[in-house]
Amino acid sequence: MENPLAFQGAEKARRIQAMFAGIAPTYDQLNRWLSLNIDQYWRRAAVQEVAEMLRRSGAMALDVCCGTADLTLELGRLAPTIGVDFCQPMLVRGLAKVHRNGLPVCLLAGDALALPFPDAAFDVVTVAFGIRNVVDLDRALAEMHRVLKPGGKAAILEFSHPVIPGLKWLFGLYFTQILPWIGNAVSRSGYAYTYLPASVQFFPDQATLANHLTAAGFCDVRWRNLSGGIVALHTGQKPRMADGC
Ligand SMILES: C[S@@+](CC[C@H](N)C(=O)[O-])C[C@H]1O[C@@H](n2cnc3c(N)ncnc32)[C@H](O)[C@@H]1O
Repeated sequence: MENPLAFQGAEKARRIQAMFAGIAPTYDQLNRWLSLNIDQYWRRAAVQEVAEMLRRSGAMALDVCCGTADLTLELGRLAPTIGVDFCQPMLVRGLAKVHRNGLPVCLLAGDALALPFPDAAFDVVTVAFGIRNVVDLDRALAEMHRVLKPGGKAAILEFSHPVIPGLKWLFGLYFTQILPWIGNAVSRSGYAYTYLPASVQFFPDQATLANHLTAAGFCDVRWRNLSGGIVALHTGQKPRMADGC
């Protein structure tokens, strides 16, 4: 199957779904190997951004594009959390982890572009390494905004554009030459780990993604570079009043 980046709209979404179905069995292991375990630190940094809100009584979180539920489970340590993803094999692996942990976490099949929840249902909405894969970024952000309660917080963790020149070069070499070779070989996918760096290259940089969040209606939009900007953690708040921040 060809690289999803060669397609648009529903066909691209179908290929992305199939791609993640294909790599689901090795997804967690490769995340740990290819990031030298740093991916878990990135997810914990996202949880820290929303921890205060989640410790409030009755708070609930939604983790969009939850995949195998690594971030969902971290959120579940603080508050009841729902994870949603459109790839069943990823969810099945996540469910096994949920059952082992016994945390108040529930996983559902659903599309980030049409979240199966009413308006203003959650205090916190997160997405880790998923927003780059949705076929309509602005619609996904609008959905995250819709399901947040007024005053609620969104946190978006995503590969971004390194801001340190030497690191940019070194990481670029690793990300485009070494990672695809290992990832494609171990996962036995012809392209999933070639798609990964290519999709990051086409994804908005830190400031541009912040602009998309603002355009979606979020206020107090900020970002923090993690690991020199290899990953960026964006946050935004849904205004308490309908007329703005
Ligand atoms: C790179 S994985 C990230 C998984 C997880 N959040 C993590 O931190 O490891 C991206 C996930 O996004 C999901 N995804 C992509 N587009 C989606 C959509 N439109 N709706 C729901 N899930 C989607 C894929 O199925 C995949 O599980």
